[in-house]
Amino acid sequence: MKSTDLTTVELQNNNKKVTLDDLREPVKKELKEFRAFFRDELKTNEFILDQLVQYLLKMKGKELRPILVLYSAKLCGEINERSYRAATMIELLHTATLIHDDVVDDADERRGMFSFNKEFKNKASILFGDYLLAKGLLVSLNADEFELLKIMSKAVKAMSEGELRQLKASKLQNMTLEKYHDIIRDKTASLLAACCESGARTTTDDPEVLNKMYEIGLNMGIAFQIRDDLFDYDISDTGKSQGNDIMERKITLPFLYAVEQCSMIERSKWKKKFRKKGKTDKEVKEIVEFVKDKGGVTHSVDVMQVYSKKALDYLGSFPESLIKNQMELLVDYITTRKK
Ligand code: IPE
Ligand code: IPE
Ligand code: MG
Ligand code: MG
Repeated sequence: MKSTDLTTVELQNNNKKVTLDDLREPVKKELKEFRAFFRDELKTNEFILDQLVQYLLKMKGKELRPILVLYSAKLCGEINERSYRAATMIELLHTATLIHDDVVDDADERRGMFSFNKEFKNKASILFGDYLLAKGLLVSLNADEFELLKIMSKAVKAMSEGELRQLKASKLQNMTLEKYHDIIRDKTASLLAACCESGARTTTDDPEVLNKMYEIGLNMGIAFQIRDDLFDYDISDTGKSQGNDIMERKITLPFLYAVEQCSMIERSKWKKKFRKKGKTDKEVKEIVEFVKDKGGVTHSVDVMQVYSKKALDYLGSFPESLIKNQMELLVDYITTRKK
């Protein structure tokens, strides 16, 4: 199979790059409703908390997970109050994990702004992340939504396990392809799977459909994280610090593949360069060039496409509808997005 790069992926999609606005369009009204739910959940009279909440509301994310919850609900029935609840829970949990993740990754930027840890320091960030996590779980408890609570809690557990395993692998510098796959499935794909499953759960209780929805989200999520990991190797402005994974010695698929192509001597040379703490910009660039030369980027794009294809295959078994077509566009967006 011919290797692809991100440019040819866009060409394969007839040059019609899917935008976030295209994705928002069919659920525009519903997204407004979701935002009202989300803001409502965050209302507080505590001054300290409100400062953090106001900062959070200024940080604009893509809202991809709420979109996915709403699409999934619509694919299996009519969007209703429960769907907004599921979308709100997921976005609260997602935001909590991002705030914690930036502490763990020592990241300075998030959504084009200073990260919470940069703006408010680690201690307040950890506590605020915990607060959002609790808020998220309470959304379902307060409405006796135990099914949704179960789906979300499973995802949060998997995410913490994934982040912990990644931390360990980066400390020991002993990442393997198998570990990488398990880590990204847990830390990222489990939440996208929860988006699809919970969204669908608000409009159907057919276990076969719910299982398919889970698989769609899981495969999309794996592709999503590979795309994210590729951001260290391209020049798009993602609103996050570029090269941070390489700086933080976080080994991802492009580098893993590149070192696999090397002789033993070369391999240990590059692993040593990667392990170095406090790399200069020049040293980060050198690693980026090495990975590109060894085909680490094109290989990762190919793997990403395999997972997005799997998501599309699961989706293929649903009857034709407008929302199904939109969901296919969402899968395209995930692999071609620039942020
Ligand atoms: C970032 O997710 C975390 C990852 C799993 C890579 P998003 O890129 O969806 O973050 P926001 O919500 O749009 O900021
Ligand atoms: C995904 O990992 C983060 C979570 C699942 C919370 P990354 O560390 O790659 O995410 P970014 O790049 O910081 O958004
Ligand atoms: Mg991170
Ligand atoms: Mg990342």
